[in-house]
Amino acid sequence: MPAPIEKPRPKTIDRAVDILRQGGLVALPTETVYGLAVDAGQPRAVAHVFEVKGRPQFNPLICHVAGRDMAGRLVTLSQAADALIAAFWPGPLTLVLPRRADAPVADLVSAGLDTLAVRAPAHSVMRQVLFALDRPVAAPSANPSGRLSPTRADHVAEGLGDRVDLIVDGGPCAVGLESTVVEVRDDAVVVLRHGSITTADLRAVVALPVREREDGDPINAPGQLLSHYAPRAALRLDATDAADDEILIGFGTVAGDMNLSPAGDLEEAATRLFALLREADARADRIAVAPVPDQGLGRAINDRLRRAAAPRPG
Ligand code: TXA
Ligand code: MG
Repeated sequence: MPAPIEKPRPKTIDRAVDILRQGGLVALPTETVYGLAVDAGQPRAVAHVFEVKGRPQFNPLICHVAGRDMAGRLVTLSQAADALIAAFWPGPLTLVLPRRADAPVADLVSAGLDTLAVRAPAHSVMRQVLFALDRPVAAPSANPSGRLSPTRADHVAEGLGDRVDLIVDGGPCAVGLESTVVEVRDDAVVVLRHGSITTADLRAVVALPVREREDGDPINAPGQLLSHYAPRAALRLDATDAADDEILIGFGTVAGDMNLSPAGDLEEAATRLFALLREADARADRIAVAPVPDQGLGRAINDRLRRAAAPRPG
């Protein structure tokens, strides 16, 4: 059934917040593009976003925050980060910063990375929702994977209308282009995705060098991450039992020493993938992983497992 499309009256904002609290999906306008929003602290809801977008990979998501205070509960802010926040928030600038160990955010949001992307959007609708919910909202652009980002409510309806619980129509997005994404490091600000806030704008407010990413940087083109958490242990895929020196990560009826989802539920498996990889890595030098069906979220899970199993440089 197609989702209702509602203007942002107070009643609708309340409903959007309720749906998010219950783990549902709401398409919300931001000043850049419409986002497919979920409560960032609910693993199932986050897994559902990946499923609905049909992304064959777990790209990390941006955590939308009400402002600096909420950001500070998720990531470690540096002097450069503070300068950028003071100059550009709320607005179309996303900061990639070290993830705090106690960040109240599902593992899957950062897709196994130890950094987290945070942004305080300027759009009044998204801001009202963030203040009322008082929790970070994970939201990729509200388009099916491989399609253009939506800048109007009807674009969202066209691509994902029957997969979301509510579409809030805040009119056309003022910027219409995704946010600028920068990684704020100790020694430099690295531009990962260009947007309406330019390199010159960034240079005007930070003392650190601002540069493009270079070969050898852990992060490749936007959306194409090479530096996902790679286990130290060797990985063997499609295993139905374990050798003596292996620990087995099971799925469904392949019980294993630990199990991604005894019920064979791909959404549950996605929420547990990164935590179980880390746990197995800490317990053994060789990890075997049960077969995971290559459909729906299984594609992203298998993509992640194949990368972890691939020979690594150095
Ligand atoms: O304007 C925007 O940024 C919109 C609105 C909805 O806020 N959102 C958006 O999200 O464009 P998405 O998921 O389509 O793009 C997020 C980008 C991706 O290129 C992703 O790889 C990058 O941010 N990203 C997220 N977390 C990251 C991290 N920890 N490290 C590096 N890149 C990250
Ligand atoms: Mg996108």
